[in-house]
Amino acid sequence: MTVEIIKENSIPLRGEFTPPGDKSISHRAVILGSLIEGVTTVRGFLSCDDTLSSAKAMMMLGVPIEIEGDRVRIKGKGLFGLSEPEDTIDAGNSGTTARLVSGLLSAQNFFSSITGDKYLRARPMERIVKPLTLMGARIWGRDGGKRLPLAIQGNKLSAIQYRLPVASAQVKSALLLAGLYADGETEIIEPTPTRDHTERMLSYFGADFEKNGTSVKIKSQKLFKGGEIQVPADISSAAFFIVAALINPNSEVLIKNVGLNPHRTGILEILKQMGGNIEILNERELNGEPVGDILARSSTLNSAEIKGDIIPRAIDELPVIAAAGCFAEGETVIKDAKELRVKETDRIKAMTTELRKLGAEIEELDDGMIIKGKEVLKGAKCSSWGDHRIAMALAVAGTRAQGITEIEDAECVSVSFPGFFDVMKRLRGR
Ligand code: S3P
Repeated sequence: MTVEIIKENSIPLRGEFTPPGDKSISHRAVILGSLIEGVTTVRGFLSCDDTLSSAKAMMMLGVPIEIEGDRVRIKGKGLFGLSEPEDTIDAGNSGTTARLVSGLLSAQNFFSSITGDKYLRARPMERIVKPLTLMGARIWGRDGGKRLPLAIQGNKLSAIQYRLPVASAQVKSALLLAGLYADGETEIIEPTPTRDHTERMLSYFGADFEKNGTSVKIKSQKLFKGGEIQVPADISSAAFFIVAALINPNSEVLIKNVGLNPHRTGILEILKQMGGNIEILNERELNGEPVGDILARSSTLNSAEIKGDIIPRAIDELPVIAAAGCFAEGETVIKDAKELRVKETDRIKAMTTELRKLGAEIEELDDGMIIKGKEVLKGAKCSSWGDHRIAMALAVAGTRAQGITEIEDAECVSVSFPGFFDVMKRLRGR
């Protein structure tokens, strides 16, 4: 177990950096790249525990994938070239791997099984098992098909029209992948729009689908043309340093080449609404994804009420927004975020428990939190709950906590941001 220590509070963060590649896009690059005939090269790939789980899954399905730093070369097998894995696929901690790959496996003409670590085995899988079964997949799982491990006997799938009960890009993407193989046109209707990286990448590779408001329709495909994918930096990783720059005095951090997909930029809107001094520079496009540089400076933050449609657009950033709320004037309310309870850990419980250890006044709601802003917190021993984003959000809060903040089980940052603590030290000049 690694314990990370954040010492000396209120040190300015200064400088620039490029966060590692976008996790959601990196997953999709290795999964979709495997379904293309011929070679696809990926640059800016995020090489972290989660995306390596997706790459290993595709390798177990017979796809040659070479990874060298942030460069990946995939010798795609085409839609119908995957082969039966010899062993159970291990998705590790990655919900994206488990759900997207299960969608794909449902349509193959072979048997497979998929599992994950203790955190992922506790997360809900019924949300994919139910619609995939409606399409004709045969899936068995623990707890009546609700949890990993899943055993999947691939089958010929039929197109369905499916209204997602929860806003989830992972479920949408699992069904889009299955829909690539189904007879006819599969339509997925979302309660609120979620990240659309799968749609953008499918479209970049020439798939035939229609998007209309909250509805996405996909037709079955025979072939995609290969290409090169450039992955922008991850706004979810940038978020920790945006908040750290806003809450610490005399800070100015330039975060470069960040993906600005409108379904992911809720964090910027929320922080700006809270008074955050944030500028977007150098906006451009990379493989159909908007990209830019983010300049964040020390700010005096106000509280905000965060609820409704913006929640799915900031879902992974809510832990660090809760940390920001600790230093904002007034009461910050986060609502409509029950999904936080089924992430890598129960992030509502984890953040309320751990921020309280640092002296924060925070109330747990069934679907969110109420955070009373304070000037300073007090350093304490906290736990990451084995969740990368909890570890990083607590580290950010620790930069403004008096005394020493220790984060136990901090090695889990490697799930999405392996060099997180080095960047933190560098920007703080320590
Ligand atoms: C992701 C979708 C979101 C997000 C997760 C990554 C994706 O999960 O929280 O970190 O890559 O599609 P849900 O689809 O469960 O909301």
